[in-house]
Amino acid sequence: MSSHMHIVFAASECVPFVKTGGLADVIGALPAELVRQGHAVTVYLPLFRAVSTQLTAKRQILIQSLTIPFSDYNRFVSVVDGGTRDGVRFLFIDCPELFDREALYGTAAGDYPDNWERFALFCRAVLESSKQLGVPDVFHAHDWQAAMLPVYLHTVYAQDPALARCGSVFTIHNAGYQGWFSPQTTERLLLPWDLYRMDRLEQYDTFNFLKGGLVFADALTTVSRKYAEEIQTAEFGYALEATFRRRAADLHGILNGVDYDQWDPSHDRFIAAHYGPANLAGKAQCRRDLLHAFDAPDLPETTPVLGIVSRFATQKGFDLLAEIAERLAERELFLVALGTGEPFYENLLRSLQERFPHRFAVRVQYDNTLAHKIEAGADMFLMPSRYEPCGLNQIYSLRYGTVPVVRATGGLDDTVAETVNPGEGTGFKFHSYEAADFLHAIDRALGCFADQASWQQMMLRGMAVDYSWKQPAAEYIALYESVVRRRS
Ligand code: ADP
Ligand code: GLC
Repeated sequence: MSSHMHIVFAASECVPFVKTGGLADVIGALPAELVRQGHAVTVYLPLFRAVSTQLTAKRQILIQSLTIPFSDYNRFVSVVDGGTRDGVRFLFIDCPELFDREALYGTAAGDYPDNWERFALFCRAVLESSKQLGVPDVFHAHDWQAAMLPVYLHTVYAQDPALARCGSVFTIHNAGYQGWFSPQTTERLLLPWDLYRMDRLEQYDTFNFLKGGLVFADALTTVSRKYAEEIQTAEFGYALEATFRRRAADLHGILNGVDYDQWDPSHDRFIAAHYGPANLAGKAQCRRDLLHAFDAPDLPETTPVLGIVSRFATQKGFDLLAEIAERLAERELFLVALGTGEPFYENLLRSLQERFPHRFAVRVQYDNTLAHKIEAGADMFLMPSRYEPCGLNQIYSLRYGTVPVVRATGGLDDTVAETVNPGEGTGFKFHSYEAADFLHAIDRALGCFADQASWQQMMLRGMAVDYSWKQPAAEYIALYESVVRRRS
């Protein structure tokens, strides 16, 4: 039995407060499992406008004012109590001039130009707040928005008697987003220029937040084993592969779990009927409900419904979908897609619906209820990602008996098993990032769907797999313990 530890999480998203992608699902679920396994967890989030709309009770301010210094001015932040959920304590860093905005990171016009200031301030405020409200054994920072936390902790705060023995873990959820800023960021953040070196934060003449986290954290994790290997190569490392390789001994692939309280068809509160492995009947009702939600006609059972829920970003592979659209439209199927993101991909998906209304229906919006309805009502789920650190939707799909068709990359490769022999497999995979290979994988799935008996067996194999947080949380605890040992 491990001894009790206190872990402080720093992240920019967390269900149910604020979400744009899977990071929010992870921060919303992993801490509660760490608490169940006997540890204390505090989660810090910026008090974005989206977060403040979730605060029902009167705000309780725990710290009135912390001073965060910049080159020729100070900012002052307060710390707001976010209450306790499932034993996890939530604290919000309030700085309205930086966080009380329409969006989290930027608008259609581009990223907010002061993101360097917003997220560096967040990291420094978490350290300052922890000194007053509770110093943890380990700080666990997530993605580039929190990457400056280990940098501060192990440089300008290294001699702070309150923090000197704290360990740090940094998790990369997506190496494609790094936080690149101008070299002057160094002095604007009052950091010594010797941090701005190629073996530290400098990267092709920019100040790179993510790189800072990679260099300074005691231990690194990413969200699947396969992605931990991939980011050490030029294809996936987004120019940081050498830094990842340099830290390979401290880099761990820990597959994300999923929150089955939220994502399980036996009790999902957003779907038309409940079902499970012992009784699949409800899935047909969910399918009708889904088609209705997309204003699509009811379809014969022999026509499969294919689903997509995604950020519309280059990462997600929709250029492959565009390439095969005409061929897909010749097949007996109906595809429903839900997503938002880059205008280019939003328009691309919309144009598919316009050209082939009898085959494609698209909703360009963010809608959690509809996301659940797609997981439950579709027969197959498509994720042709160019890269995918973990991917949660294919794991949800497995539990909903919605057979995933995925590119064999990152967490998609680790979680979906291709059928090699009859009676095996939970989905369909393609390897090269090629439209023809994607189409071929869909065709294999369509062929299998035509044989309903073996299709049902495949659904049931997927539904039986357990990707709960129990095992991954135990792996994080072992890692925190090794970091604590190293620091003591
Ligand atoms: P990523 O974090 O790269 O976006 P993941 O598969 O890890 O990919 O997680 C995506 C999460 O965001 C899932 O919970 C998915 O249901 C949700 N999601 C993405 N787009 C939408 C949308 N348009 N509406 C509702 N939920 C969405
Ligand atoms: C990122 C990745 C996704 C992963 C999620 C949670 O957004 O793109 O693959 O599942 O983080 O770790």
